[in-house]
Amino acid sequence: MNIQSTSVSRRRPADISFGEEDFRRIAAFAKSAYGLHLEASKKAMIHSRLSKRIIALNLEGFSDYHEYLKANLEDEADHFISALTTNVTHFYRERHHFEQLQNEVLPPLVARARSGGRVRLWSAGCSSGQEPYSLAGSVLRLCPEAPRLDLRILATDLDPFVLRRAEAATYSSEECTLPDGEWASQIFEPAELAKPSRRIRADARSLVTFRQLNINGPWPMSGLFDVIMCRNMAIYFSSETQHVLWRRLAEHLTPGGMLFIGHSERVTGPATALLAPAGVTAYLKRPAQGAPTGCSTGKD
Ligand SMILES: C[S@@+](CC[C@H](N)C(=O)[O-])C[C@H]1O[C@@H](n2cnc3c(N)ncnc32)[C@H](O)[C@@H]1O
Repeated sequence: MNIQSTSVSRRRPADISFGEEDFRRIAAFAKSAYGLHLEASKKAMIHSRLSKRIIALNLEGFSDYHEYLKANLEDEADHFISALTTNVTHFYRERHHFEQLQNEVLPPLVARARSGGRVRLWSAGCSSGQEPYSLAGSVLRLCPEAPRLDLRILATDLDPFVLRRAEAATYSSEECTLPDGEWASQIFEPAELAKPSRRIRADARSLVTFRQLNINGPWPMSGLFDVIMCRNMAIYFSSETQHVLWRRLAEHLTPGGMLFIGHSERVTGPATALLAPAGVTAYLKRPAQGAPTGCSTGKD
């Protein structure tokens, strides 16, 4: 491997060449390690992001980077993942899902929690936390005492950098465009809404547990979820990987539980036998043969 001297660090991403073979190797590695499906159409984005990394590491080019990655995976994995994933998100994204939750899905779950039952929600591919905190806000709007009940939200993502941001729970005013005051007040104290940098309310934070999880790897959770949001992540996977993911998600839902997916995604493959369409990009787990109930978020 060639690690070059100072002149290398003055290079710009455009100076690093990225041929077909480089793309093929990076894509094969991303697929085998994380199940990520890198479309050829994303080549320019991948080139730009990984070239910055190559320059920061003072490496010569993609060939060296590939060797470096294999030899230093433990140190480099976080940067590699972060460079390849897209973390766009916002509060109450695809608002119709939160309206459906508010009007149909959450009321019986809240009633169950109020009578001592267990309720679990999962934001899979949670990015920097806006999605699980929007879920928490929806819950608190109906049930202010939720933190004292057995109701919890698990939030997972592969990218450790976005998870750190999510746990910090602080967002700039530009990131806080919310549908209206009532929705906003479930996530932020009114005084916070006047600040340039806003912290999520303590009760909303207390409902959410963040964990790093590769959705295409093993899942340590042992039980079932009442609601799963897995939105705008599967679009990065091949249709084969999506089929496996939809089936696994369906198997991790309680009968009658709901799966919400992204606006450009559709459940296809074997999971269609387990899930019935129940709204816009929303699916209901069909009543099923005996399955275990309850699940662990790792918080309890
Ligand atoms: C575009 S964001 C979607 C965020 C949120 N669900 C939403 O719809 O607003 C996609 C997220 O999926 C995560 N992701 C991509 N591949 C993943 C994988 N294999 N396992 C877990 N998370 C992954 C990315 O890190 C990113 O934060």
